[in-house]
Amino acid sequence: MRTLAGSVRAHWKQAIRTMSAPNKNYDPVEVTALSPEEIERALEAALGAIAAAGSLDELKAARLAHSGDRAPLTLARAEIGALPPQARAEAGKRVGAVQGQVKAAIGRRQAALEKERDERVLIAEAVDVTLPAARQVQGARHPVSLSAELLSDVFVAMGYEVAEGPEVEAEWYNFDALNFPPDHPAREMQDTLFIARQDGLPGSSGIVARTHTSPVQIRSLLTRPLPLYVVSPGRVYRNEASDATHLAAFYQIEGLAVDEGLTMADLRGAIQAFVDVLFGAGLRTRLRPDYFPFTEPSADVSMECHVCRGASVKPGADPCRTCRSMGWIELAGCGMVNPRVLVACGIDPDRYSGFAFGLGVERALMLAHGIGDIKDTTDGDVRFSRAFGMEL
Ligand code: DAH
Repeated sequence: MRTLAGSVRAHWKQAIRTMSAPNKNYDPVEVTALSPEEIERALEAALGAIAAAGSLDELKAARLAHSGDRAPLTLARAEIGALPPQARAEAGKRVGAVQGQVKAAIGRRQAALEKERDERVLIAEAVDVTLPAARQVQGARHPVSLSAELLSDVFVAMGYEVAEGPEVEAEWYNFDALNFPPDHPAREMQDTLFIARQDGLPGSSGIVARTHTSPVQIRSLLTRPLPLYVVSPGRVYRNEASDATHLAAFYQIEGLAVDEGLTMADLRGAIQAFVDVLFGAGLRTRLRPDYFPFTEPSADVSMECHVCRGASVKPGADPCRTCRSMGWIELAGCGMVNPRVLVACGIDPDRYSGFAFGLGVERALMLAHGIGDIKDTTDGDVRFSRAFGMEL
């Protein structure tokens, strides 16, 4: 029987016979690695290992073993040089064809395994886009700060400056200079939180948590040149139990104008300006007599109810919760600066006159938005703050 090795030899002999000069007498050489059986065996082994590779790692190992530098086919190819020259091309072609087969098989298996892996990954790493996302909650400016700023801006636009004072204040600024007599019940009326009380001393030299922003009037009059137009937003304190409309710490905004020839008509104009900004233009305002030690005459400012516009007052009309069917809403205190205050600050009351006003920021915000409970402004719930955006 003719063996494979024999047929290779016969093949070579034939090749040598047909070869051109000068290599006619070249001796054929036996190279086992290049024998068709060996090549066939190497091919079978390679294809078997490639087919058996169950993962990309196993395929990589199979590739190194069967087509890497130390693979039988690679080593066999290196032996081609040992063949008689006329046999080399043929041997090279055959080994090359087998190597090509191996490479192609690796490529196919690689593609199949990658596809399998991708399908596995798609399932294993699938994202449920319908799950609620972990949202990063954003903060918001507080509506009370925004309201105070908006109100300040109305007056800044009219040429006022913003003035600020300390929340821990000398009793003299908070009361005495504002014409509260030493034993005046108003000091108790304002539910003052005394920080350092100095009973028995002339005048009053205690320290209080300021009960209103009016002491900034005094600080401004003592430090700024005349004429003077200032607004002072800020936090104030009262020793009182909080309920739906009261807080122990809340915000006020104070206005003060001192100039030559100012009258109550100027005061009315200033008041109408902030009502227009807060509640929209077109609401009537009215002043009614009131009492504050630092203004003379003093008044309280009311505005026409922005919800019912006075309609709830008529007999048989639907009641209005906002103005309690009064038709008017009290908004602020105001008046002409008491000459005694000017004198306390070294200003000639015969030459200068002034007006002042003060209002509660939370109260204005609550009225503008129909907020029923003032505690909503202190809870710090960002959903409450965000609802107001940048508007009052
Ligand atoms: N300071 C007063 C209070 O807290 C409010 C006030 C009333 C301020 C009349 C003023 C004013 O400037 O003129 O109750």
